[in-house]
Amino acid sequence: MQQLDKIFYGITPSEHRKILRSLFENEIKNRPNIAITTCGEFHLVKTAIEAGIKPTNIYASDISLYSSVLGYFFSGKKMASLKIKLREDYQELYDKQIDEVHRASCILIIMKLQQFKEKVYYEAQIKKEINDNKQEYIDRMVKRLEKSKEVFKGIHYEIKDLRDELVNEKYDKKWILTCDPPMYSGDYQKMFDFGDALVWDNGIKEFDLKEEYKNLFNLSRKQKYLGLWLKYKELDEMEQKYVFYVIESKKKYDYWLTTKPQELKQFIYNNLIKYKKPDDFSGVKRFKLLNDEDELKPTSEVRFVNVDRDTALYYRDLLVHRLGTVGAEHYFLILIDGKLFSVVGINTGDVTKLRATRAYQIFGMTVVLNKYRKTTRLMMYFLTSIELKKVLIRVMSNNKNRIYDLAGIKSTSFTRFGRDKTNANLLKKVSKEKQKDGLYKIQYESDFYHRNFQQSLSAYLEEQKNDQKK
Ligand SMILES: C[S@@+](CC[C@H](N)C(=O)[O-])C[C@H]1O[C@@H](n2cnc3c(N)ncnc32)[C@H](O)[C@@H]1O
Repeated sequence: MQQLDKIFYGITPSEHRKILRSLFENEIKNRPNIAITTCGEFHLVKTAIEAGIKPTNIYASDISLYSSVLGYFFSGKKMASLKIKLREDYQELYDKQIDEVHRASCILIIMKLQQFKEKVYYEAQIKKEINDNKQEYIDRMVKRLEKSKEVFKGIHYEIKDLRDELVNEKYDKKWILTCDPPMYSGDYQKMFDFGDALVWDNGIKEFDLKEEYKNLFNLSRKQKYLGLWLKYKELDEMEQKYVFYVIESKKKYDYWLTTKPQELKQFIYNNLIKYKKPDDFSGVKRFKLLNDEDELKPTSEVRFVNVDRDTALYYRDLLVHRLGTVGAEHYFLILIDGKLFSVVGINTGDVTKLRATRAYQIFGMTVVLNKYRKTTRLMMYFLTSIELKKVLIRVMSNNKNRIYDLAGIKSTSFTRFGRDKTNANLLKKVSKEKQKDGLYKIQYESDFYHRNFQQSLSAYLEEQKNDQKK
């Protein structure tokens, strides 16, 4: 079974949560209650609980369906009261669910299914796997939700516009109110737009940071509670007075503002604490990604650039999110006319140890170009080119011995259908076995072809032309 990925993006990062946790601990005596607006995936709710705030004193709210499914489940409200409209097949699946936790899980799995992009090869594959085994994935989600409920039991949740929450008079001086708003307007609407498959509209407009931040923050300053607001990237002059700490990485600043700076004077982290993110990717060389405005031509320049693991995995995550980590001996970016087309990882250890004559492709992903079919096939054209041999020999440094024979490449595919058209007529199938999870593991290999990268690109373009004629 596949690891179930995230459904929600844009959580409050852990460096932020650490500081907020100490602040909540610091304030708990005078302000034992907290309103967590824009609660998203409930990370700040968890932080508040960890800081010792009683779950019954926590009032979380948001306007997204994802947050509301979680919030309704954690706070014991019925899924039916969300009044979600499902497509017929999904409705049938939903009606089969036996209790609230299964119903909540069913909606989350439907949301995940709708988020996969059919055009992205890997995503389509994972989607199919989940779609074919929906109930199993729902049951797995049930376990996750039940575990989370242990943490969040007792909290309150309501679908509420932060514009109303921040002037809610219930939140007096014994309260903290947090707001971690979307960075870009419309982000969450897009994340949770599922077309006809799942329709839900609460009529509340997403917060627009550019248009609304200043006014709403000012309004919040006039309230009795202690307000804590996240602001990204930049501050205007007025806001600078209210910053109580900054999270800094090389290219990015996040600011936490408080509505009552004078009341935080004693807080140990008050005043522009700078925090460096350990894992920022500022060292990664940036390349533009090849996109639909670019034209592949037989004369386009093709270049393999040998990069370090961090750089390769950065681009791998960019092209295909969240596959988990992987290691290879050599990493390359494939650039076409200076723009990034693909990232690959290749092992040659067995070749230098004289156990094999073919290098082994560990992973490889490409950008998706709508004008061209099967861009992964173009990658395979490059990987079977004799020019790759030169590239590899250059990086198989310290020539462990000088008698190895590097004759070609091999690769493994995992597919549902027992064949992988990407490799047709390029690599030969050498073994195929059905795994316990139902997927076929197929090994392919080939000697290098006597065409350089440029000629490989031409051959691919020629093939595309012929495909179109068919
Ligand atoms: C950056 S996320 C918050 C993430 C959250 N702190 C976490 O760590 O899980 C922003 C959230 O603001 C919510 N939001 C957007 N407009 C809103 C509004 N007008 N009222 C309340 N919430 C809103 C979005 O649905 C989204 O969940």
